[in-house]
Amino acid sequence: MENKGPYNAMITAVGHYVPDRVIDNKYFEQYLDTNDEWIRTRTGISERRRLDKDKPTSYMAVRAIQSLLKNRNIGIEEIDLIIVATVTPDMIYPSTACIIQKELGAKNAWGFDILAACSGFIFSLTTAMQFIQSGSHKKVIVVGADKMSAITNFEDRNTCILFGDAAAAILLEPTEDKNIGILDSIMRIDGEGGKYLHQLGGGSLNPATHDTVDKKMHFVYQEGKNVFKDAVKGMADVSYEIMQKNDLTSDQISYLVPHQANMRIITACAERMGLPEDKVMVNIHKYGNATSATIPSCISEYWQAGKVKKGDYLILSSFGAGYTWGSILVKWAY
Ligand code: COA
Repeated sequence: MENKGPYNAMITAVGHYVPDRVIDNKYFEQYLDTNDEWIRTRTGISERRRLDKDKPTSYMAVRAIQSLLKNRNIGIEEIDLIIVATVTPDMIYPSTACIIQKELGAKNAWGFDILAACSGFIFSLTTAMQFIQSGSHKKVIVVGADKMSAITNFEDRNTCILFGDAAAAILLEPTEDKNIGILDSIMRIDGEGGKYLHQLGGGSLNPATHDTVDKKMHFVYQEGKNVFKDAVKGMADVSYEIMQKNDLTSDQISYLVPHQANMRIITACAERMGLPEDKVMVNIHKYGNATSATIPSCISEYWQAGKVKKGDYLILSSFGAGYTWGSILVKWAY
């Protein structure tokens, strides 16, 4: 995506929040025909986090943002815009951005939600980037937050073992240096994939009724095998494409930051790019698939551990319901 604005957008802070409650694979063994070994070998997941029933997605998002503000040592009043990536908004409306803005007292910020499922964070980051590149905004927060336990059918072994709850945020600020920050973005959608991964209930097509609830239409539905096949190809292709397009070789890339849906998809993507294991950010074993939060939580954890440094090339890649997918190239700025 060509930058025609006067600035580049650079990530200047990160923060994340995960709930304390850990659900390990043994938990599912107690009531489902599944086992720890199957889950680990087929997905790479050992445990995931679950937020309390009475707490919403915004609870985690607010805490992720508070941690980001602390890391950047700034107050919330400096924030111009808050973009929330989520498939589990607190409610249909008001937007979760409005709820977060109120909770944080972000009196100088406007905001909105973006729904692109597992690609929500990269779609939101690409959107936020435009506001910075144009010079219209100086400090934009993108928070990826999902309480997947709210839309998971815990009787369905095909899906319930996959998902977790988490939130993570990044801050974008402008720089006149066109060689640092977000350098490129490739975003794609293909509505043909909608039939394999969706949540049919609760929208205007199937508003909530006793019938839609009885039919469990308010839960995630996934045909895993089809999504798996398309995700491997989609994510690997676009990750490779952004590398090629920017004349980068695998040894110049510090990290692939993949969406954490399945370890086998992540490995296939890294292999296609010629990247060894230690150049791939991974936290799927701890958190499962936390949808919009996977990519920023990886970055935040690796940054916190001192593993990301100025000048590093990061390729962020995702694939999700829609289908939605894409890649972003970042040269780390701090
Ligand atoms: N425990 C034990 N067996 C299970 C199981 C579980 N939790 N879930 C499914 N199975 C069974 C299936 O019923 C099937 O049994 P059958 O052969 O008797 O019908 C068998 O395991 C194989 O199922 P399959 O769906 O082919 O497994 P898989 O290797 O494709 O793995 C997923 C399933 C969901 C882990 C995998 O398909 C996947 O990760 N898909 C993509 C997820 C993704 O990327 N989503 C995109 C963004 S969210």
